[in-house]
Amino acid sequence: MERTRITVFDTSLRDGEQSPGCSMTVQEKLRLAHQLDRLGVDVIEAGFPIASEGDFAAVQAIAAVVRRPMIAALARACTPDIERAWQAVQHAARPRIHVFLATSDIHLKYKLKISREQCLNQAVDAVRLAKSFCQDVEFSPEDATRTDPDFLCQVVQAVIDGGATTVNIPDTVGYTTPAEFGELIRTLRARVRGIENVTISAHCHNDLGLAVANSLAAIEAGVRQVECTINGIGERAGNASLEEIVMAMHVRRDRLAYETAVVTEQLYPASQMLSEITGVPVQPNKAIIGRNAFAHEAGIHQDGVLKNPLTYEIMTPQSVGVPDSTLVLGKHSGRHALAIRCEQLGYQFDRRELDDLYKRFVTLADRIKQVGDHHLLELIGNTKAQAQNSAFGSNTLAAAASAGSDTKRERAVPIPPRTDFPIPFPSADHHGEQEDYLWGV
Ligand code: KIV
Ligand code: ZN
Repeated sequence: MERTRITVFDTSLRDGEQSPGCSMTVQEKLRLAHQLDRLGVDVIEAGFPIASEGDFAAVQAIAAVVRRPMIAALARACTPDIERAWQAVQHAARPRIHVFLATSDIHLKYKLKISREQCLNQAVDAVRLAKSFCQDVEFSPEDATRTDPDFLCQVVQAVIDGGATTVNIPDTVGYTTPAEFGELIRTLRARVRGIENVTISAHCHNDLGLAVANSLAAIEAGVRQVECTINGIGERAGNASLEEIVMAMHVRRDRLAYETAVVTEQLYPASQMLSEITGVPVQPNKAIIGRNAFAHEAGIHQDGVLKNPLTYEIMTPQSVGVPDSTLVLGKHSGRHALAIRCEQLGYQFDRRELDDLYKRFVTLADRIKQVGDHHLLELIGNTKAQAQNSAFGSNTLAAAASAGSDTKRERAVPIPPRTDFPIPFPSADHHGEQEDYLWGV
């Protein structure tokens, strides 16, 4: 199947940085920019140079040393912003000025206090000025999804005529829905002359949790650039998450015939680096790169994953740079995962012993939620002691305890994880289909 190339525009260093707690120093921005380069994004929006000396310095530094991707600098639709943006980005190998101006009536009336006509003129003047500095000019009608579609078409037409090479359609307040956003893109494509000669872009915020779905709907409607951030950071509820958009296209290539230049194995390193720099943790259940994205606690799931990861994983952890799947031992875990972890710690059990250990394990897990190795070793010691006790008729606790620790010493070297599942139990005299099913619980 022929795949259409989608330009990935990363705005972690600009929109992402605008989210509370996410501001970065020049050095930190530079470090992240190098990682974004390794990740293979096409455009890095490095900052908003007029906003501060630090932002200016960061954009300038990134433009000087990160040479493969396009480097974009943001500017409001006014002369000082555009001049400052150009000063910061002019030495980039591939510079871009990104100009924005709100177009919705609510923004025009309450924020900018200008008429639609003034807005239209200001947008065109700004694009022309930017174009006098730089070939590559992006224009964003801020709050596009709450803008009157007729007026939006007029603005987009005017900025394309004025020389914009990319027209970005922002869902600034995360208000649209996938069908509505797709429809808006199709309307623009049908009504704006010459739009086929520029790149249409989508920039979605996540206020309703729809940023990724809206971005994908926009791509299906003809958008060829997506603006997104690592870990989905950004204003309020964040921007569309880069890793989710990229992996949706990667994993569901059967439905989404698009490709990006992103090196997917660099997604997790990028996520970790951003989180480390900002000190903002990633939510554990975050798709693709969250701590739990490849962790399994439920016994039935653990059993399935141990038999074949495809049962509960739609992509390999390695494909996104996560070192490995993890089996978390908690009250929902089953005998299979428990037996595997015991083996990794150097212990094997027959079926009766494992049942005994499992009962102790569930009782403890009910109380402490997650059972770590040190807890497990204690339970193993007790189970082994109990088994010795009943086998040899010994009835002193001390004898049992010392028998347990002898066993532990004997097996101190962890054995490598096995792959020939299910583990055959010598005493499993009623091993069958039902038994195999129970293995997961
Ligand atoms: O959300 C938004 O509208 C923006 C623009 C500056 C593109 O971030
Ligand atoms: Zn934004």
